[in-house]
Amino acid sequence: MNLTLKIWRQASPTAAGQFVVYQAPDVSPDMSFLEMLDVVNERLEAAGERAIAFDHDCREGICGACGMMIDGIPHGPNRATTTCQLHMRHFRDGQTVTIEPFRARAFPVLRDLIVDRAALDRIIESGGFISVATGNAPEANAVPVPKEGLDQAMDAAQCIGCGACVAACPNGSASLFVGAKVSHLARLPQGQPEHERRVLALVAAADGEGFGACSSHGECEAVCPKGIGVDVIARLNRDYLAAGLKG
Ligand code: SF4
Ligand code: FES
Repeated sequence: MNLTLKIWRQASPTAAGQFVVYQAPDVSPDMSFLEMLDVVNERLEAAGERAIAFDHDCREGICGACGMMIDGIPHGPNRATTTCQLHMRHFRDGQTVTIEPFRARAFPVLRDLIVDRAALDRIIESGGFISVATGNAPEANAVPVPKEGLDQAMDAAQCIGCGACVAACPNGSASLFVGAKVSHLARLPQGQPEHERRVLALVAAADGEGFGACSSHGECEAVCPKGIGVDVIARLNRDYLAAGLKG
């Protein structure tokens, strides 16, 4: 199949960016989206041009690095699919595909399709963890974990920190990400001692990083490659209110 690609090119965080049109002939429908970009880059480099910068690591839907806007949708047209697991058979021969970086105030563009998502890491550093004393590992069955809470925790733990929820939200809100991280730990007994401090700290960190507020558009849930639902935001709001009332 033959594609026309409109790709955002921006040499540095301070440089002006623009869309540049490239032809991508002989694309195999079995290629992943990133493999298609690899081939485009091989041709650019062979012609002495600068390769298109894009982020990736695992290429297995695990690390969350590969996010980009494909025809205006974070991670592209397939639900519950990361960019690296999107295949070219989902596009049509002759199609024009527009590719640009995530757009959000808290995600500055570094180069081409790469944005700086370190703000999400700083939110986790503010308290998105469980403190454990050093020493021998505790006996695995010493703390019983209720099945319902465990299921909710493991569902929320699927968040890979890709930032697609932020990019899709008209407010640039990280509420789905924060809700997933809070739910992941709050539903486990081990997460209880620091729960209230964690909720307040993560929300304050997200506000401080410039992420917007949630106004219940639901775009985040629609694009999350891991199927995280907005129920984690409802639990976040409830837990935030309770923690705030307790001071
Ligand atoms: S909640 Fe979903 S979309 Fe948001 S960072 Fe986590 S995996 Fe990505
Ligand atoms: S490269 Fe790791 S999730 Fe896509």
